[in-house]
Amino acid sequence: MKTTASEQAGIYDLRTNWPPYTYRDYPEIKPETYNAFLDFLDTENTSKRLMELQPWVSICDSRCSFCYFPTTATSKARIEPYLAVLKKELDMYAKTRYLQTSVFDEIVLGGGTPSVLTAEQMIDLIEYCKARFNITDEYFIKVTGSSKSFDRHKIVKLAEYGTFQMDMGAQTFDNKLRKDFCLPDPAEQVEESIKLARKLGMCVCADILYNLPGQTMDSWVDTLNKCIELDIEVDVYALEVVSDTILDTQIKAGKMPPPGDVEHETQMYLTAYKMLTDAGYKAVGHDRFSREPWHFKESCLNGWPFAAQLTTGAGCFMGYFETFSYSNIEDINQYMDTVNAGRLPINKISESTPEEMMKKVMTRLYLRLPVDKIEFKERFEKTPEEVFGPQLNRLVEKGLLTIDDKEIKITKLGDIWKGNIAWEFAENPRAKNMLK
Ligand SMILES: C[S@@+](CC[C@H](N)C(=O)[O-])C[C@H]1O[C@@H](n2cnc3c(N)ncnc32)[C@H](O)[C@@H]1O
Ligand code: SF4
Repeated sequence: MKTTASEQAGIYDLRTNWPPYTYRDYPEIKPETYNAFLDFLDTENTSKRLMELQPWVSICDSRCSFCYFPTTATSKARIEPYLAVLKKELDMYAKTRYLQTSVFDEIVLGGGTPSVLTAEQMIDLIEYCKARFNITDEYFIKVTGSSKSFDRHKIVKLAEYGTFQMDMGAQTFDNKLRKDFCLPDPAEQVEESIKLARKLGMCVCADILYNLPGQTMDSWVDTLNKCIELDIEVDVYALEVVSDTILDTQIKAGKMPPPGDVEHETQMYLTAYKMLTDAGYKAVGHDRFSREPWHFKESCLNGWPFAAQLTTGAGCFMGYFETFSYSNIEDINQYMDTVNAGRLPINKISESTPEEMMKKVMTRLYLRLPVDKIEFKERFEKTPEEVFGPQLNRLVEKGLLTIDDKEIKITKLGDIWKGNIAWEFAENPRAKNMLK
């Protein structure tokens, strides 16, 4: 599988898997940005793009050692009061002119682990959204969770209710690794939940991780084969060791080896790419491999960055409305107090200037989407070449991009480096690892 080493030589020293223009870079909210956002919500949605509605249940029944998501342990969360507040926040948005003139084609329970709720609570929350927002006749419901809490009863109820997709944090089917990274249930249980969901006609998308400390190539290949055998979609994530996670502490204390180097990580990615594409999967979105045609045309993906996505709940960080992007307060109690005080629970917000929007458009390449040159010119009165000539030339020369009359696209080689490519167009000191 090490056939592309020469192709990769001389491209980048390190893979950057996290793109620019995400919540990690948003400034803290200030009264003026809060007010500008409220003014924006008072306007009509003229984008003509379908949206995704994403209420988060940022509660988990255990902590995976690598996880950096802001979640609260089930033992410390009061679920019913949290759901009541989440509904209040949804109401606050539902009453605005922008949302009243918006249409959704997806409702996604995200998090965290919404599967810690009962089936009835999950369905009630979806019904609540359907009653308050404009939803298309043909819409999709997705529910995120882990096999720890997706029991048989919940899976059956969700399938009967018409849930299209179960998003499952599988991580690995290697039981030794599962123990090492504090995943409490065995691989057999993950497999059983997936098989049941598939039997009941649901699409399943499993998150799987590579370059975990101690993970061999054989173990990775076994996990990929299991996903192919189970006939599921996969979100293939490279492990990122984030400060202050349990794993970070273990590595710093010498209790756990560090992840593999860039060569090891890249080979694992290329192995996944080859195995999955050979099995008929297509690379789509930031990290997905899919055989489900609907995933290629999902509006929530294709509309970036001109559309909008309403995300609510403690710690949510993927909300955006055209030029505004925001994240919510992480601490669940502070989140609840803020909503109860009648305020949107936003902790960080960024409003992009037209120059920044041009750069944001280029992050479509990170999402494996083309940049439409005609639309770019219509919106910004300049071509991408006029704005980003030197970067585009360098990336085309290195074989990472192709450009024709209509669009800019990443190549197969560019796919490995799509995070780095997105940073080439950003103006930020975190973009240190530039093209050689
Ligand atoms: C936060 S979870 C939300 C859904 C659900 N709780 C779960 O476990 O899948 C989304 C996915 O992010 C990925 N993830 C979490 N921490 C990560 C890290 N440090 N590096 C890379 N991916 C990570 C995991 O694969 C996880 O399944
Ligand atoms: S990976 Fe998922 S289940 Fe694990 S701690 Fe993070 S959010 Fe919770």
